[in-house]
Amino acid sequence: KTVYLKDYRAPDYLIDETHLTFELFEDHTLVHAQLVMRRNPQAGSGLPPLVLDGQQLELLSLAVDDVPLGEGDYQQDDSHLTLQPTRSEFVIDSSVRIHPESNTALEGLYKSGGMFCTQCEAEGFRKITFYLDRPDVMSKFTTTVSAAQRDYPVLLSNGNPIASGHEEDGRHWATWQDPFRKPAYLFALVAGDLWCIEDSFRTMSGRDVALRIYVEPENIGKLQHGMDSLKKSMKWDEEVYGREYDLDIFMIVAVNDFNMGAMENKGLNIFNSSCVLAHPETATDAAHQRVEAVVAHEYFHNWSGNRVTCRDWFQLSLKEGFTVFRDAEFSADMNSRTVKRIEDVAFLRTQQFAEDAGPMAHPVRPDAYMEISNFYTLTIYEKGAEVLRMIHTLLGAEAFRQGSDLYFDRHDGQAVTCDDFIQAMEDASGVDLGQFKRWYTQSGTPRLVVEEAYDPVAHTYSLTFRQSCPPTPGQEHKQPFVIPVAMGLLDAHGHELPLRLAGEAVADGTSRVLAVTEAEQHFTFVDVAHKPLPSLLRGFSAPVKLSFPYSRDQLMFLMQHDSDGFNRWEAGQQLSVQVLQELVDQQQRDEALSLDPRLIAALRSVLADESLDAAMVAEMLSLPAEAYLAELSEVADVDAIHAAREFARAQICAELFDLLWARYQACREQSRSTPYAADAAQIARRSLQNIALSYLALAGSDEVVDVCEEQFEHADNMTERLAAMAVLVNSPFESEKATALAKFADYFKDDALVMDQWFSVQAGSPLPGGLERVEALMHHPAFTLKNPNKVRALIGAFANQNHVNFHRLDGAGYRFLADQVIALNALNPQIASRLLTPLTRWRKFDSARQALMRGELERILASGELSSDVFEVVSKSLV
Ligand code: ARG
Ligand code: ZN
Repeated sequence: KTVYLKDYRAPDYLIDETHLTFELFEDHTLVHAQLVMRRNPQAGSGLPPLVLDGQQLELLSLAVDDVPLGEGDYQQDDSHLTLQPTRSEFVIDSSVRIHPESNTALEGLYKSGGMFCTQCEAEGFRKITFYLDRPDVMSKFTTTVSAAQRDYPVLLSNGNPIASGHEEDGRHWATWQDPFRKPAYLFALVAGDLWCIEDSFRTMSGRDVALRIYVEPENIGKLQHGMDSLKKSMKWDEEVYGREYDLDIFMIVAVNDFNMGAMENKGLNIFNSSCVLAHPETATDAAHQRVEAVVAHEYFHNWSGNRVTCRDWFQLSLKEGFTVFRDAEFSADMNSRTVKRIEDVAFLRTQQFAEDAGPMAHPVRPDAYMEISNFYTLTIYEKGAEVLRMIHTLLGAEAFRQGSDLYFDRHDGQAVTCDDFIQAMEDASGVDLGQFKRWYTQSGTPRLVVEEAYDPVAHTYSLTFRQSCPPTPGQEHKQPFVIPVAMGLLDAHGHELPLRLAGEAVADGTSRVLAVTEAEQHFTFVDVAHKPLPSLLRGFSAPVKLSFPYSRDQLMFLMQHDSDGFNRWEAGQQLSVQVLQELVDQQQRDEALSLDPRLIAALRSVLADESLDAAMVAEMLSLPAEAYLAELSEVADVDAIHAAREFARAQICAELFDLLWARYQACREQSRSTPYAADAAQIARRSLQNIALSYLALAGSDEVVDVCEEQFEHADNMTERLAAMAVLVNSPFESEKATALAKFADYFKDDALVMDQWFSVQAGSPLPGGLERVEALMHHPAFTLKNPNKVRALIGAFANQNHVNFHRLDGAGYRFLADQVIALNALNPQIASRLLTPLTRWRKFDSARQALMRGELERILASGELSSDVFEVVSKSLV
């Protein structure tokens, strides 16, 4: 069943107060709900029937205004309870029985290990009690939780604790009250044997907020980084957005079984343990940075999401796109801005562009869905963040801040739409964003083709931009977008030219933003004495596929001279893509492979330049991922892409061995002599060290195996240890590999998050026999389909990162994935649906693989009763 944005209607009834009581037991839970309701004055007259949402609830009793209802007084189907109010204000009391102990979907109230926890976004609250489970119904919640004191000493919910007590039978209870009205998707409850670390934060108006992070006891030593990240986030949101925290207490709870990264429940954020636990010995630098980003993301939701929430789920990017933009800027301010941008753009271009080109393509504000859980996508989050970044670019930082102030001020306590956000931005800045709004309604990745023309007599330089956007499901033709193109012009010495457009009195700096708004548009610069080289789309100022006919020599020039760090990296990527595509062509024509020596020359000068930021050197040395090369291809030749990339890597190793060796040794020596810190300088050094090691290993020499083993054995941190293990796993040194894997597993067998990394490294290895290795690992005692992190670490890593093995020509990789999707469909539909994404990309491949992939999608479709999650993705993929 499809839901449409155009069918949106305001709710007939409102819930002013919600009083909940949970009685938690080992084999069931009782939920009593008292809802203080009234007719919505904004939704017509009369008293229409009241339709409450409710799924998998065993109704025990129901009363309106204290009068018990009998079976004839209401109707019930598998997802609703309908009754007829007789007054415009009334109180409903219901009691239901639910079964968190057998809830494997991890939605609603469920048990993770020994603790109870909740995940209500988007529509999980209806699996807890009968309710108006939609974000535009906002209510004040009071929650009482009772459980056995011994097993569940800690009882938490949203807001502030207001009362607690003990009962005689060994049970105890606690009552929490949240003074802020909120939709049900922000409700949370936690009960367990948890320990916490505590800290406090003084807000800009001088209030002290208690901060607590809760975990199961064995993880108590992994919380400091999360706490530091939280305090930085609170300060940053005050400084950059003027947003202050509003309750007396802010809590985070880490749980092991969680479908997504984390959840911004009011005052009680619940996190996948992978996104909050971090310790140098068990978490990599990347994991530390992810924790910092996710803690910030969920905290920032307190304003962009909670204080101002979404009217309906079509507006999801209103909170997610905005909050991802906010957390990206936070991370840029805490770390290297350029490196953060490079990482985000690489991710967007491989993953979101592929989504935009596939069967599930949808606009940032979709107009229809079957299952909302399927729309927590890269388009809503990542492209949504790019849309916010473009508004920031077009308005400038100051006007953007005025717009966000107006938005928060105008809509505090409301459930609003993307249009309301744009309106606030327009009102504060005076900029008309009417055409810009097409970014919200049109799907697909725009193409931007650029041509240049230089007039040596008139000294003018013109750029012509032509934009287009390929058809996407339901959208044959697109209107032109507003595309902000940040750019500059370089002269032959690499100096930046002043940029004066025809008609302007004076030049406006050396880097400026052109707004491309037409299908075809020209910009002419005057006073240009010699033909310049353009630097286009600086900082990736718009999520488009830009093409300009750069020669390889020009790209090498930009790599050296562009004042924009992002574009220096981008020039290197474009050079690598050209060179690798040439190798793919040679491979397909059965010719001997020969690598353009300019790539080696470019990397040599990057590697030799000790004045460059080590993190940038590491980024420049990383060749474009196989997934990115596949995304750029019309038909992705998986094997040729892999062979081409491996050939280039081997050449780089052979040609640059001495330089790589010297830089590796210098970095490793510093690692040995300095205690670990997750600071920018050390993270940069380790990333250079580890990428150098991965190249060196291709030499296959004994001295390299020795340094790998040395790093694996003696590193004091997971970043170095895991990288060394990964190099061994991908090497032909069978006995060293086996030893490292066994030692690692033995040492870390009780640490679930570390074992996830152990699974991932093996699942991603492109060496032959990958599927058989993964199938064997499915039987490892640490693996279970019931834990989403394990599924992602083993099956997800195999299908998404191990192209040669997943796409093997006999279709066994596809069959394996389909089998897992079918098994998970019954256990955890959200995870099943996400896992099958690689199969939906069948159009990218040759006809033999297409047929095999479609065959597996058809087999899933015919496999029995499908969840709405899996059904929507499979059926849309087969159209
Ligand atoms: N709002 C959460 C976040 O972005 C995501 C939770 C979505 N959960 C889900 N099961 N769909 O931080
Ligand atoms: Zn979010």
